[in-house]
This record gives sequence, C-alpha cells and structure tokens, in this order.
Amino acid sequence: MTHAPVPEDTEALLLEHRDIDALLEALLAALSAGALVGSVDALVGSIDAIARLDDAIRVHSGFEEGLFPAAPEKLVTRAGDTAGDPLFRLLRLEHVQIRELSGMIRCVLGDSGDLAGAFTMAANLASRWEAHVRREEKDWLGG
Ligand SMILES: [Fe+2]
Ligand SMILES: [Fe+2]
Repeated sequence: MTHAPVPEDTEALLLEHRDIDALLEALLAALSAGALVGSVDALVGSIDAIARLDDAIRVHSGFEEGLFPAAPEKLVTRAGDTAGDPLFRLLRLEHVQIRELSGMIRCVLGDSGDLAGAFTMAANLASRWEAHVRREEKDWLGG
C-alpha cells in the first residue's frame, strides 16, 4: 500500500538500513565475545561498537524525519488525518523508542561495563530495529 510521500532516493536509505544492520551485528558479536572474555579491551570494543551504531541510528532517523510529513502535535489519531499520517506517526514513535534504547545501551556500557545486560538490551534493539525497517521498506520505501 502506498503512503506518500516516497523519497526520491530510496536506494540511499535502503543502503543505510543495511549499514545499520551490519553495525548491530557487530555490536552483538562484540558484546557476546566481551561477556566471555571479560577483558578491558573487549569492553572498549563494545563501547566503540555501540557508539558507531548509536550515531548511525541518530543520523539516519533524523534524516528520515526530515522527509516525513510535518510532525503531528500529538501521537494520537486525529480528525482530518490523511492516509499516510498514522504510518508516519508510528514511524516517529518507533524512532524515539529505538534511539532511547540505543542511548541506554551506550550509557550502561560507559557507566557500568555490564556486557551481559547490554547484550540483552541490544537483542531487544535488534528486534525493534528489524520490525521498524520491515515496516518502512514495505509501507513507505517500497511505495
Ligand atoms: Fe526509520
Ligand atoms: Fe529507516
């Protein structure tokens, strides 16, 4: 189903999705390896991986929001919504949740170095990211 507006350069956004997929995989790998080894180097590697992922998520989602229709005042359905409004409202909400989780992982690793806790959160982030991207590619970018 088409929910205009579809951006002109969908290919660039799709490539960014694949880049972020790879950064997420790298984070999960660093966290699981780090939890086994338990060294300072492993923690530093995980902190580096979440920093790169968190930055990429913020840049990507912020850019997308510039392409979305103007932000609604509230995250609720309103009279006069156009066909695409509920979709973009949901995508914005998912961005907030994804950024929040990514930022929390960054804080947890930086503050406490809790690799196992960060891994659980990163697995949650991966499933949220996957569902979000599937929705964007099907209902927005797939046009
Ligand atoms: Fe998005
Ligand atoms: Fe996206």
